[in-house]
Amino acid sequence: MWAVTRYDDVMYVLKNPQLFSSQGFRMATNPPWLGGNPFSESMLTMDPPQHGRLRTLVARAFGASAMARLEPRVRAFARQAVAELPLGQSVDLMPSYALRIPAYVIGDLMGIDPSMHSRLKRWADLITGGVTTVKPDEEDRKQLARDAVKELRQSFGELVERRRSEPGEDLVSDLVRARVEGEALSTDEIIAFMSLLLVGGIETVVNLLAFSLLVLVEHPELLPRLRADRSLIPSFLEEVLRFEPPAQSGPRVTTQDVELGGVRLPKGTPLLVMIGSACHDDAYFPDGDRFDMGRPTPQNLPFGHGVHFCLGAQLARMEGRLALEAMLDRVGRMERGSEPIIWHRTLVVRGMATLPLVLHPA
Ligand code: HEM
Repeated sequence: MWAVTRYDDVMYVLKNPQLFSSQGFRMATNPPWLGGNPFSESMLTMDPPQHGRLRTLVARAFGASAMARLEPRVRAFARQAVAELPLGQSVDLMPSYALRIPAYVIGDLMGIDPSMHSRLKRWADLITGGVTTVKPDEEDRKQLARDAVKELRQSFGELVERRRSEPGEDLVSDLVRARVEGEALSTDEIIAFMSLLLVGGIETVVNLLAFSLLVLVEHPELLPRLRADRSLIPSFLEEVLRFEPPAQSGPRVTTQDVELGGVRLPKGTPLLVMIGSACHDDAYFPDGDRFDMGRPTPQNLPFGHGVHFCLGAQLARMEGRLALEAMLDRVGRMERGSEPIIWHRTLVVRGMATLPLVLHPA
């Protein structure tokens, strides 16, 4: 597999899906031992024109008016999650904050019962990182991933059938009602969409929320500035996204012999487009390894580019802003807890499994 690391080369790959196919995702996330993965069948792994037909279907659910409707609910939930955090003692912010908020949002969007929200992140982990980082002899981990696919298919399949008989005002009901060139989507196609939203909407935002806090701990001068001037929050978040892009890379595969960055790649070569690296390319981001809220924003590359540009970019930015505002309302200072941070082992999404911090009242 080739790693594409310079900004210009990353952009070239993302702008040319006819040369660099997103089927690379399928190769990476559906190895033969898994026996199928709904995430690997989603539009993220498709190329034009098949991809575009499906994308127009869901795009409406993420437009400006849908976001405006969602905003008060996300704000209220973020406040509730932050209000329940203990102050003055070490607490793992991953389950209690970084994960809780996006799991609620995606669950709410899809009309999933809140009692199931805690399972969503586990499935999202297992059908992505739980597949791509398994070594050939790790039979236990393979079984965990197979079990997750089975549970997810069953649970989402039941939800789709319920919405077919009793449609409501949620995304799954919209997908049941939707028609692509006159034809309804099959249950498997809807499950694939739901799996994509699960991974796209939870895995990434969890890490945006967590990295926002880690940056604040490592740069203690920033928290009082953000508290004093909330209008700085969007630039802060853009720089967090550039500095620590939650989606570090995307797999692609060449559709023909092609030259890239002076390297000849034969047809069928697997590539990993390193968004994380491109976001630190000094040619575009001078002194890129320095956190600098004053950089021109937004950068957008953390959300990809071209036909697969992130459908949830506005939602992610909104969640990042509302979660941080809720935190700043209640917390005046934060520091690392005594336990070490544990990092996830994944190929695509970089992030923490635990983030122990001590929060002090405002
Ligand atoms: C900080 C948060 C997020 C980051 C960094 C992020 C990043 C990305 C990136 C880099 C891609 C393009 C992948 C590629 O070209 O191979 C993408 C696609 C996508 N994202 Fe996001 N994402 C975030 C949040 C979300 C949210 C909240 C949702 C939805 C609820 C979402 C849904 C999607 C979908 C559906 C796609 C596939 C679009 C397509 O194939 O046309 N993402 N995201």
